[in-house]
Amino acid sequence: MSLKEKIDLNKLPCHIAIIMDGNGRWAKMRGRPRTFGHKNGVASVRDTTEAAAELGVKYMTLYAFSTENWKRPKFEIDALMHLLLQTINKETKNLNKNNIRLRTIGNLSTLPRHIYSGLMNTIENTSGNNRMTLTLALSYSSRWEIIETTKQIAQKVKDNIITLDDIEQEFYSSCLSTAGIPDPELLIRTSGEYRISNFLLWQIAYSELYFTPKLWPDFRKEDLYEAIIDFQRRERRFGKTSEQI
Ligand code: IPE
Ligand code: IPE
Ligand code: MG
Repeated sequence: MSLKEKIDLNKLPCHIAIIMDGNGRWAKMRGRPRTFGHKNGVASVRDTTEAAAELGVKYMTLYAFSTENWKRPKFEIDALMHLLLQTINKETKNLNKNNIRLRTIGNLSTLPRHIYSGLMNTIENTSGNNRMTLTLALSYSSRWEIIETTKQIAQKVKDNIITLDDIEQEFYSSCLSTAGIPDPELLIRTSGEYRISNFLLWQIAYSELYFTPKLWPDFRKEDLYEAIIDFQRRERRFGKTSEQI
């Protein structure tokens, strides 16, 4: 039985989020510059996205560039931005072929203008697709998102559009940049790091966490299958006892 066949399609996570980590170390192990690792990470993005869509996962969110990543050396940031533009331009056809819609979350106003317009092109070009929504977190950090959302809500209260009692969990979720996307059931982080690095803090309140030592450029369909199989073995109790489930 192949790994793929071991997956129970009736218990598929609706939303998988991934912290794609380890590109730099992957390159270093090969005596190459960090950017070589980023280039090789693109194939993993393609493979994983395709695997998720083929299985029937409805939402996938990939952490591609954090607010904190702006602190990296300029040449690495430039290379990442260039790679991003090149990839979305090249992959638009594939996204359409696979019926995948592209979305982004993050502070896009901080991206170089040509990157921003390239992204908008692909987002618009794929907006009619409905097999899976692929969200790229770009210039994203969860605390930034939470502060932005809180400011927007405070303004609405100030302008008497809503009252304090309107601020409930569901309402708050609907004001975040992930509005309309269900919370991830499964969060994967590659490269053996055990941290969240400011990713989707609100949304992962009850996500199952899966850590793998695999470096991102080595991550392939089979690795996604393994993560999903592991997820399906877990009992999600949401505060209840095992007997109640
Ligand atoms: C992940 O790989 C890609 C980004 C954060 C943009 P890293 O570049 O963080 O690789 P490591 O963690 O240094 O190996
Ligand atoms: C997290 O990876 C951000 C992305 C994957 C885009 P980092 O490599 O930047 O995380 P830290 O700084 O090691 O926690
Ligand atoms: Mg890293």
